[in-house]
Amino acid sequence: MAALFKLALLVLVAVALFGGLAVGGVYVLGDQRLNRRVAVPDESVAVPMDLASAHRGQHLASAVALCVDCHGPNLAGRVVFDQRGLGRIVAPNLTRGRGGIGASDSDADMLRAIRHGVDRTGRQLLIMPSDNYTRLSDADVGAIIDYIRSVPSIDTSLPSTEILALGKIRFATGQLALLPSANIDHFAPRLAPPAPALTADYGSYLAEIAGCATCHGPGLSGLGGWSEADFLRLMRTGTRPDGRVLSTSMPWPYFAQMSEDELRAIWRYLDKLSR
Ligand code: HEC
Ligand code: HEC
Repeated sequence: MAALFKLALLVLVAVALFGGLAVGGVYVLGDQRLNRRVAVPDESVAVPMDLASAHRGQHLASAVALCVDCHGPNLAGRVVFDQRGLGRIVAPNLTRGRGGIGASDSDADMLRAIRHGVDRTGRQLLIMPSDNYTRLSDADVGAIIDYIRSVPSIDTSLPSTEILALGKIRFATGQLALLPSANIDHFAPRLAPPAPALTADYGSYLAEIAGCATCHGPGLSGLGGWSEADFLRLMRTGTRPDGRVLSTSMPWPYFAQMSEDELRAIWRYLDKLSR
């Protein structure tokens, strides 16, 4: 009996040990993947530092790319994710104020962060949706940087980003998506962006930057088949044809600030997809 008990105990200890090793291994894997450095091409764009461009950048950052949703309406940053046991993710203050990265980041650093989701050391940025921004035209990304440069300095003392052991394990096992930048083919040839116009092509460009597919799936299925008027009303007021107002888990209050032509271009794209 005692021998059997000892054996059972031994098996238990072995299982616990192997289990511990496996969990430890997954943790190390997650940690390594989060800290892996990736190479991206050296790019540069013109940042014209003029009012029209800063204005265009503000529009894109607020109504289309939704930078302000994470970095805050005045770009002073905020805690975007905070879950007990998993960790905390902070979207940094982008202004030149104390605690902000505006003074230390060069235009090239910002460009790399926006279009590739990588910081100056090659570390992939957590949850920043650069996979939606990688197609941004030189003019548009230049305008966004121009806008960041133009906002007033704000001093902040935000807590730091920290992914805890369980967060790393969930990440390594695919239960927590943290690195949008891993979806980007960084060295893919850069295609000429479509001209801003009332075309399905330009609509697809806007829809990509707005991240419609992140939430609605790659084919945007179910979004076609609307009349243009119904679609415009939905994007402007969140109201469906049956009168129901959508929750803000659909970020329509931001999209409502798009211009009529931008919304109509997106409609043309959705309409084309559904044919
Ligand atoms: C879903 C939330 C989210 C959105 C939307 C978002 N960001 Fe970020 N951004 C972050 C987080 C979080 C970080 C810090 C990530 C890290 O350090 O791992 C970050 C980092 C940055 C950085 C700093 C890179 C560095 O040098 O360390 C810049 C610049 C930046 N974002 C600009 C933008 C711009 C411009 C947009 C819109 C085009 C945008 N972000 C949209 C969450 C977001
Ligand atoms: C952050 C996630 C998210 C993003 C980004 C997003 N949506 Fe949505 N969308 C939702 C959710 C969630 C709903 C359903 C909300 C509800 O039923 O209250 C929705 C609903 C809709 C509907 C109504 C569907 C129906 O049958 O009622 C349309 C149309 C739509 N979205 C279009 C878009 C377009 C176009 C874009 C990009 C410009 C977009 N969405 C971006 C989350 C998102």
